[in-house]
This record gives sequence, C-alpha cells and structure tokens, in this order.
Amino acid sequence: MLGQDHTILAGLAADQKLALLPAMATRHGLITGATGTGKTITLQTLAEGFSEMGVPVFLADIKGDLSGLAKAGQPKGKIASRIDELQLPQLGYVNKGFPVAFWDVFAEQGLPLRATISDLGPLLLGRLLKLNSVQSALLHSVFRIADDHGWLLLDLKDLQSLLAHLSENEALYRSSYGNLPKQSLGAIQRGLLELEAQGAAQFFGEPALALSDLLLTDAWGHGVINILEAQRLANHAPKTYACLLLWLLSKLFEDLPECGDLPKPKLVFFFDEAHLLFDHAEAALLEKIEQVVRLIRSRGVALFFISQSPADIPDSVLGQLQNRVQHALRAFTPKERKAVKCAAEAFRPNPALDTSRTIEELGVGMALVSFLDEKGVPRMVEKAAIIPPQSQAGPLENAELTQIIQQSPLQECYAKTLDRYSAYEMLAEKAQIPAPKPRTKAQDPDPLEAILGSFAKKAGQQLTNQIARNIGRKLARGILGTLFGGKGSR
Ligand SMILES: Nc1ncnc2c1ncn2[C@@H]1O[C@H](COP(=O)(O)OP(=O)(O)OP(=O)(O)O)[C@@H](O)[C@H]1O
Ligand SMILES: [Mg+2]
Repeated sequence: MLGQDHTILAGLAADQKLALLPAMATRHGLITGATGTGKTITLQTLAEGFSEMGVPVFLADIKGDLSGLAKAGQPKGKIASRIDELQLPQLGYVNKGFPVAFWDVFAEQGLPLRATISDLGPLLLGRLLKLNSVQSALLHSVFRIADDHGWLLLDLKDLQSLLAHLSENEALYRSSYGNLPKQSLGAIQRGLLELEAQGAAQFFGEPALALSDLLLTDAWGHGVINILEAQRLANHAPKTYACLLLWLLSKLFEDLPECGDLPKPKLVFFFDEAHLLFDHAEAALLEKIEQVVRLIRSRGVALFFISQSPADIPDSVLGQLQNRVQHALRAFTPKERKAVKCAAEAFRPNPALDTSRTIEELGVGMALVSFLDEKGVPRMVEKAAIIPPQSQAGPLENAELTQIIQQSPLQECYAKTLDRYSAYEMLAEKAQIPAPKPRTKAQDPDPLEAILGSFAKKAGQQLTNQIARNIGRKLARGILGTLFGGKGSR
C-alpha cells in the first residue's frame, strides 16, 4: 500500500514505518526466506504499491498463487489477524483488486507470449538448445547467413528449414562463412526437435510481444501488473523460462531510451525462483546477466529477485540488489548456518538487534528489512511485520481468470498466431518445392495454428515493415553492443 509522500509502505517495525522509496527502486531488491515464510506475500504487497503509484509491473508466477492480485482480498486466517494487529485500516488499508494482464507461453492461462527466433538471438538460443562451444559458434554463423540473405527467422520451422538447407548445400557457403559441419548442424536440429517436444515451439513466432504492451497504465493511472503464468514453463522447460526472462531484460535494455535518475521506475520486474536464472549458467552467460542487472538501471527498470537464500544468487549480482527483505531461514546444517551468517552480514547492523539470531527466529510474514534512504545509503536493518496485500492472497477461480483474459484489450493483438512469409517459405521457393499445405487439425493439435491462413493477405505488407524493423534492429545492436544477441552476428 502507499505510504506518506508517495512511498510504498511495506512493513511496520516496533517504532517506525518501513517504506520503499520509488526513486531508489532501480537500485534493485532481494526477497529471501525459507519455504512458507512469506516471500510471495511480500512480493504481492510491493507489486501493489508500484501499481498504485502508476508503475507497471512484470512478474513470473511460478506457483500459480499470484492471480489473486486482480481481485479485492477477503482477509481470513493469518492475514486477517495481521491487519487487526497492525490496525492497518487506520493507515488507509482497504481491500481492492489491481489491473492485471495475464500472459502464458502455452496460451492456456493468459495471452500467448511470443518472441521470434531472430529476436531471441543465437546466444540465448544456444543456451536453450544446450549447445557446446563449436555448435554455438555455428549457430552464430547460421544467424549471419540468414541476415545476409534476408531470410527472416521467426519461428522454429524457419530455423529448421534453414538448417536443412545448409546441411544440403554446405559447399555453397563454405568460402564466405567457413565450414558448416553436418554433424553440428544435426545437433542443433536435434535440439530444436527436443524443444518442440517440450511444447516450447509456441513461444517462437508472431505476433511477438511488443514492449510497449508491458508498460501500460489503466484509466485510473494504476500500473498494469503483467503476470506471466510460469508454472508449466518453469517445471517442464526451466531453460526456456530462464531464456524468456533474460530475453525480456535484454529487449528492455535495447529498446528503452537511456534516462537519468527518475522519481519512480518505468517498470518493475519480479523474478520468483530466481535461482533458475543462474542454475548451470556458463561463465559467459553469467557475465551477461551481471551486465544487464547493472545497466538496466539506466533504462529506469527495477529488478527484484526472490529466492530461498541469498546464497542462490551469484555474488556479483547480489551486490547490486540493495533493497532487502529477509524472511526466516533455518540453520540446521553447517551450510545453512553459513547462509544465515552471510544473509546477516549483508545488512547494515542495528545495535539493538542480533541479526543472525533474529533471522532464525522470525515468524511467518515477519522479516528483516533494509531499504535505501534518500541518499542511496542502506538504512539500518529493522525487524518488521510485513503488511499483507490489499488484493486476494492466493489464486483466482478458473472462471474468473478466463473472464479477465477474454476481456483484455490486448486480446485482439495477441490471441491469434501469425505465420508470415519468412525463411521457411523463402527457402521452399528457392528449392522450388511447393510449400506444404497447411496441416489439418487432426495432424496438429495446436488450435492456434488452425488460423494461420487468415493472415496471408497481410503478409506482403508486413514483410516490408519487418525488413525495415530488422535493419533498424541490426544497426541498433551494432551501436549498443548487443547484450544477448551475439555482437555482430545478426
Ligand atoms: N505478511 C504476512 N501477513 C500475514 N500472513 C502472512 C504474511 N506473509 C505470509 N503470510 C501467511 O503465510 C502463508 C505463506 O506465505 P507465502 O506464500 O508468501 O510464502 P513463501 O515464502 O512464498 O512460500 P514458498 O517458498 O512455498 O513459495 C500465506 O498464505 C499467509 O497465510
Ligand atoms: Mg512463494
């Protein structure tokens, strides 16, 4: 909820209100704590605060417990007791819902969220396909060949057909691009098949997400909270989940203009289960993540990482997350004791508080909190009761969710898949092979694919736009130094 002077009131300590200053939000944040200690509730409260002050939010809902943000809360149990105990109505606490847009790569629990292969770029795609260094280098060459020949890589079949073409016609490209070993091309093709088997193919294609659609406010000036339904994605295709979030970050960095220090951020990103971003990330990728976390501040984007222990986050990233909420941690094993010690040492000490001991003793919904002050200096750590959300804690009913998705003003732009003239069709023409007839419904269970034909007329006109956009993007990447696209490769 909003506090005085347009700050976000997050918690109440014995003798003070703990508020997050919006001007300091781009110094990023961290919410940690053991299972069930109140991390998601804290995230929900902060997301509401940003929305109330007109800042759009993007968050990944890993456990499916955040859709309630759309609906006014009906407090019961621990949450009702907390509201009474803190006498929150006297501070202006009222139950209310927030403007929410739901997104889902699988198009089941939200509007389909898509990116093109070309947008994703060879580095992230290489990671997604678990390529080794030789295969990754080859994928960079494949992107360059596509760029040089104007073959648009939009969806998986574009890339698949290009790989097949290169495999058959390697000799034609050798003098300009070096060897394109069949075996490595085959490994990339197999990776793509695996990705398809995970159901991730739907993520690639058009209409791709336009960033401007994540930056909306409603008629009352509240920031829209974009919820990515990520349960299925994070559990079944965790690499795709991590890549999607990293792609979004790099896109924000590339597309948003540089800005000085702002009174409030332009967008706030919450990464639940943040360890998934770093698990098995090779050194080159980790370096890029650190870079993006550091640089994205200059675009007015604030990042909050949520994980069980600060030890889940690499030190170089951890050091950049300066607004901190630490819920309880257990300390049974030596490793856990070390994690508690590290978590405690990260705070500016408070002489009135034994930080390590308090971390172990905190009750549910209680936390150690330290936000930055007006000068950007961390405040002394305080023990606080976190203010519960004003919206519903826990998920919406399915019918409620469906209604919100169907009524979304974005429905018209994103609901239907668009399959434009791109590398697949271009290469089919080149080989003078007639493009296969659209697949029948029985062959292809994806209902969205059934609508492909209706966009055929638009294709010619949009192709011109796309080429112009791609050239612009290529130049921009050259100037900015691509973060994830692989410099000079596209
Ligand atoms: N600030 C709070 N005030 C009152 N009750 C709370 C608060 N935070 C959490 N709770 C209670 O604790 C429960 C668990 O909280 P929450 O889901 O946020 O935990 P979590 O740390 O995200 O757990 P997990 O690691 O399993 O995702 C909530 O459903 C709620 O009943
Ligand atoms: Mg949680």
